[in-house]
Amino acid sequence: MKNIAVFASGNGSNFQAIIDAVQDGSLTASINLLVCDKPNAYAVERAKAAGIEYFAFTAKDFSDKQAYETEILAKLAEYKIDLVVLAGYMRLIGPTLLSAYEGRIINIHPSLLPAFPGKDAMGQALRAKVKVSGVTVHYVDAGMDSGPIIAQETVDLTENETIETLQEKIHRVEHQLYPAVIQMLVSKSREEVKNG
Ligand code: GAR
Repeated sequence: MKNIAVFASGNGSNFQAIIDAVQDGSLTASINLLVCDKPNAYAVERAKAAGIEYFAFTAKDFSDKQAYETEILAKLAEYKIDLVVLAGYMRLIGPTLLSAYEGRIINIHPSLLPAFPGKDAMGQALRAKVKVSGVTVHYVDAGMDSGPIIAQETVDLTENETIETLQEKIHRVEHQLYPAVIQMLVSKSREEVKNG
């Protein structure tokens, strides 16, 4: 059984989908920790409701990224975390976490990377008037949404697509795809995960 930590900054609907997949048995992993950089985020409420331990912090209480990531790293060790799952965590991962967990940090992004990286990916897709966008799950490296791609799924855009309708479609795909990809990764050995 692999131990995972989910990192989130907001609503945490992807975190919830992962919790649900563990509860219904389709994901054979243990969610040992939520890490959240917004103590008032709804993701924290979801952790409490599910009885999952959480570490909530405010970045400006620390001198820099290295300082809070050192604290996070200690938590990951304490909770024996094998895989870090970013689910709407709106911060770049720095060298402190990357060097310890390289090849064992994954992210979900609401576009078909390398198209529309960074913030407001769905708004970027709408403004570009693309007909197809989607969801990408990828390994995290030092760049912005730039690591090796693990899985992608497309979403069709209609003529009168809005940010709300697109978000609903994207979330529906994310909530299926992310738990399935995590299951695929946790059922591989650690060496295989490291080697991609
Ligand atoms: C998700 O759509 C995820 O793809 C996106 O944030 C949302 C979080 O929703 N992530 C990024 O944009 C990362 N660059 P949630 O809090 O409801 O899971």
